[in-house]
Amino acid sequence: MATTADAVPPVTPPATPPAIWARGLSRAFGEVRAVDAVDLDVRRGSVTALIGPNGSGKTTLLLMLAGLLAPDTGELLVAGADPTRSAQARSRIGWMPDAFGTWESLSATEILTTMGGAYRLGPTQSRRRAAELLATVHLSEFADAPAQVLSRGQKQRLGMARALVNRPQVLLLDEPASGLDPRSRIDMRTLLRSLAQAGTTVLISSHVLAELDEMVDDAVFLARGATVSSAGLLAATSAQRRWRLHSLDATALTVWADRAQVRLIPDTDAPAGAATVLVELPDERAAARLLADAVGAGVPISELARRSAGCWSRPI
Ligand SMILES: Nc1ncnc2c1ncn2[C@@H]1O[C@H](COP(=O)(O)OP(=O)(O)OP(=O)(O)O)[C@@H](O)[C@H]1O
Ligand SMILES: [Mg+2]
Repeated sequence: MATTADAVPPVTPPATPPAIWARGLSRAFGEVRAVDAVDLDVRRGSVTALIGPNGSGKTTLLLMLAGLLAPDTGELLVAGADPTRSAQARSRIGWMPDAFGTWESLSATEILTTMGGAYRLGPTQSRRRAAELLATVHLSEFADAPAQVLSRGQKQRLGMARALVNRPQVLLLDEPASGLDPRSRIDMRTLLRSLAQAGTTVLISSHVLAELDEMVDDAVFLARGATVSSAGLLAATSAQRRWRLHSLDATALTVWADRAQVRLIPDTDAPAGAATVLVELPDERAAARLLADAVGAGVPISELARRSAGCWSRPI
């Protein structure tokens, strides 16, 4: 049966497509249009955030990009090929789902060597790769422990290691930062930045951009299955997203920021002795949330303002 979508002629991909290229990508579940005519360009060697609220289609989109779910319509190239049609293309992709899955009775090493086998690494090579990756995600001490004894955050890290076994060109991560403590988050940021530096393309989903603080170069926003903005792509530069925060009690501010996982940036331009710091926030809504949270926790905030040019003696 012809549908409206069928009537749209296929789009010819560019001669040298970006690492992830999609046009008119759609997938429905019954009446729900989970992903609705999404266009996507993710450049090689970048870390790009895929941001959207619950049910906005992030997982559905990532599953299609990973070649694990067939689109209803649309064109798609990941690392140069269509992963829904080509096993070779899938072998160039690393996929980390939002939940660890059903591997729990295997040890961390067994999980990684099993993946290695699936990617046709020999037993020695698989074991070497497993040890290397467990060290990378700081889980060497759990090498022989069954995955079920790992904490949620440790499982997240093992999931990251599993996604890296095949040295993917494109790494797709579904909410990897949720459940990570601040230290693990910094480790993840370091790991992703070094992978990107070496040419790996990373697409990473989250509900809020702030969670991926300093991890990403670009951001794509999804709402009800459609991209709502990806121009530019991070329209606001990190400097433009900075807000000045003044507390009457520096200790209370630091204690709260630690607990709330808010990164406080020292403000070198602030007058000496002032408990003034900078925070990076994507928008005013995030600023309002941060203020409510801090005040609710008893931090005596006396000022929160967008750090605009001219506010301080030195330009940002
Ligand atoms: N297998 C499925 N069967 C039916 N509906 C589905 C299925 N998978 C997803 N959906 C629906 O598609 C929409 C998008 O879901 P999806 O899981 O992609 O969102 P998400 O952005 O990843 O959400 P979350 O932040 O909660 O993980 C939702 O309305 C969801 O109910
Ligand atoms: Mg999801």
